[in-house]
Formats: sequence, structure tokens, C-alpha cells
Amino acid sequence: MEKYVINGGNALRGEVEISGAKNAAVAIIPAALMVDGICRIENMPQISDTDMLLTILSHLGAEVKLINKNTIEIDSRNVRFCDAPFDLMRKIRASYYLIGAMLGRFGVAKTTMPGGCNFGVRPIDQHIKGFNALGADIEVKNGFIFAEAPEGRLHGSRIYLDKVSVGATMNIILAATLASGRTIIENAAREPHIVDLANFLNSMGADIRGAGTDTIKVNGVERLHGGSYSIIPDQIEAGTYMVAAAATAGEVLVKNVIPKHLECISAKLRETGTIVQEYEDSVLVKGSGNLRKANVKTLPYPGFPTDMQPQMGTLLAMANGTSVVTEGIYDNRFKYVNELRKMGADVQVDGRIAIFEGNAKLTGAPVMACDLRAGAAMVIAGLCASGTTQIEDIHFIERGYENFVGKLRALGADIAIVDFPDEPEIHEKAVSVG
Ligand code: UD1
Repeated sequence: MEKYVINGGNALRGEVEISGAKNAAVAIIPAALMVDGICRIENMPQISDTDMLLTILSHLGAEVKLINKNTIEIDSRNVRFCDAPFDLMRKIRASYYLIGAMLGRFGVAKTTMPGGCNFGVRPIDQHIKGFNALGADIEVKNGFIFAEAPEGRLHGSRIYLDKVSVGATMNIILAATLASGRTIIENAAREPHIVDLANFLNSMGADIRGAGTDTIKVNGVERLHGGSYSIIPDQIEAGTYMVAAAATAGEVLVKNVIPKHLECISAKLRETGTIVQEYEDSVLVKGSGNLRKANVKTLPYPGFPTDMQPQMGTLLAMANGTSVVTEGIYDNRFKYVNELRKMGADVQVDGRIAIFEGNAKLTGAPVMACDLRAGAAMVIAGLCASGTTQIEDIHFIERGYENFVGKLRALGADIAIVDFPDEPEIHEKAVSVG
């Protein structure tokens, strides 16, 4: 079993180059299924979620060529409708975008219920509401989703989302792109990756307007043509390095970013006494070594992102004074707190609110990555702790951070991936019961 082993105490110093945005890439890869031509996609992050989606596309008959480390070409012209590899699909959340893309391309889709990080119940009722409005019949049975446009092609419609949902907004955009007529999505999510998906599709011939606002209009087109597109930088990867720099009292130039996308994170870091300087496509973060408390509430964009909550919570555990963190998106996103407590943090959780007492002097411990961002939070804790931290279940982290260990080592972190012999099953059971 591979684990991260971190000897804490080194302040991060230097420069780090941010990769392409995971949450844009995982929608753009399925979108390529609808393109009648070759799409060249640059700045594709090399992470396990994108690997898995590219494997699924190949299975469906797309030709996927790796041009260089972060550039791929996808040719979906020979794709025919068939069952997708369900074992892979149920491992990732973003497999739900294949429903929108397949419905758009074939008028029919069959997938599993999506997997991904477990933050409590993650329904997809708003996706289904959207597909229904576009004329699809949907059946969810035994963990599978069957979707079909009875007339072979979806038709435009007006859809008001009851909840601001990134996934539902992107999925409805996908399904509506090749539908007949105009679709209007109201109360749409406004995240940068939604704009990126719309820009990708528009560059291949789609007609999507208003992405980045809460009303998106999709005028359906007959076909998409090939083209070239570069994915935006990852807001959350950038934010993670920014928080790591602040937490370790380091100084890091975070390069290849869109500073506007990071404003909510920069503003919160400044409240903690961290210096954040914005340049055209980079931000410089200088930790003060004397972190102040701050209250955080996660909200849809442009609010503070839920995907940065565990990393920021970890920093606040070490700040001077008591901080209140309110999780505004998910019911169960404080599981990492149990791991943080093992390292000496004093945190009380009540439902969606966590009180971080602050002033923790973290000490290294064996901990788990409960999910992708919780895992990143454990890495930040390990970098700040005295002694050695071992992090298990790192496959969660590798879903979303390209070359995490390499980038951190280049910034001076003492972190390595170490292969430990698997523990006997009887011991694992004893641990999980305890
Ligand atoms: C996406 C991101 C995830 C991020 C989240 C919120 C991807 C692949 N994942 O997840 O990293 O944490 O946005 O920024 O892009 N909801 C419903 N019904 C629905 C859909 C959502 O009730 O049909 C609820 C969810 O349970 C949650 C909230 O709406 O409470 C927001 O979820 P949503 O924005 O859809 O998140 P995801 O697209 O799953």
C-alpha cells in the first residue's frame, strides 16, 4: 500500500506551476464525444480522474492520442452507442457528464449512478429534471441510469434549477448543445469551469451564451466540428498551494493561474495576515508566521469554494484565536476533522458548523485521506507538523492533483511516496471497528 510520508517543519519556498482544471477537464472529455471531428485539448491535467474518463471514451470507440504530457487529441467520429464500462464509471463523480453527452450525440444513454467523494447524500435530481425538460425519459434502477429521447433528439426548453448545481448546469449544457431549439437554464451555477465548458463547446461550433451568469442560453446546433482548446488553470489546486504556503510560513509564487478565480481564497488568506500579491497570471503568497483567526462560509462561486474548506480549516486550526467554519454546500464535509484531531487540533463539529479553537501545535501521526480535498488538507497538516506524518488512501488525492509530491518537493517539502507491505486483513478489521 502506497502512503505519503511527510517530515514536517519546512516552509515552502519557490515557484509552482498550476495544471489544468480538473473540474473543467472532466466535463470537456465527455463533451468531446459529441464532436464530429478531431479535438485537440491542451493543459489537460494528468490525474487519475481524467485517465479514467479517457479510458471510458476509448472503450466507447473514440481514438485518444497523447500528443505530449498535457496535450491530447480525441477523435470521436467512429464512436457508436454501446454500454460504457460500468466498473470505471461508478468510481468517479464526473461520469454523470456522459449522460448529457451521450443523450446529445445518440439520443440515448446508459450509465451507472456516479461515484466520487462521499460528502453525504449527493442526489442528481436536478440533472434528471433538466433531461426530462429536454424531452428525455429517464429510468433509475438498481444503480443504473437509462435515458432516452423518444424522438431521437432532445428539444430546447426552459429549466429553473431548484438548487445551484455545478453538475446539473454542465450536464444540461451538454445535453442542450445538439438539441433542437433554444434552452434557457435559470439559477445556473457560475463556476469558472462552467464558463470553460461553454468556451470549449463554442470553439467547436456550439452557440452557448451567458455562462458565468445565472442565466445560460443554449441555441442548439446540428453538429460540432473539430478544433483546438486549452483548459483553464485549476482554481482549487492553486488555492491548495496558496494555503500550504501560508500555513508553513513560506513564500511561493503560484504560476499559470487566473487571479480573478482566486479572489475568494486570496481575500480569506489576507484576513489571516498572509500577504497575497496578484500579478497577471500568478499570485505571490507570503506567510506571516503569525496566522490570525477567520470565519469561513462555503458558497457557490464567487463565494468561498467548498473544495477549499478542508485545507483552510487545517490552517485555521493553527491560527491564533477561534474560527468558525460553516459548510454551505454539503451535509458531511468535516470528516477530515477526526484525522486533524489525531495530530493535535482542537475542533468541535455540529452538523454543518465547525469551531476551530486554534493555536494547535500539530504533531505527526498516521492519518487517512478521507477524500480528495480532505487528503490535501492532511498533506498541509503534515507539512506544518513536527515529526513524521503518514497518509493512507492517497489514491483519493491523486484523483485531482497532478504530480503533487514532485511539486511539493520542488518547493522544499520533505514528502515521499513510500510503498508499505499490506497489513494483514485481521488487523485492518480491528482498526475499522475501533
Ligand atoms: C461539483 C464538483 C465538486 C464541488 C461541487 C461544488 C465536479 C466533478 N465536482 O460537484 O468538486 O465540490 O461541484 O462546488 O465538478 N444537488 C442536489 N441535486 C442535484 C445536484 C446537486 O440536491 O441534482 C446538491 C448537492 O447535494 C450539493 C449541492 O447541490 O449539496 C451542490 O452540488 P453540485 O454543485 O451539483 O456539485 P457536483 O456537481 O456534484
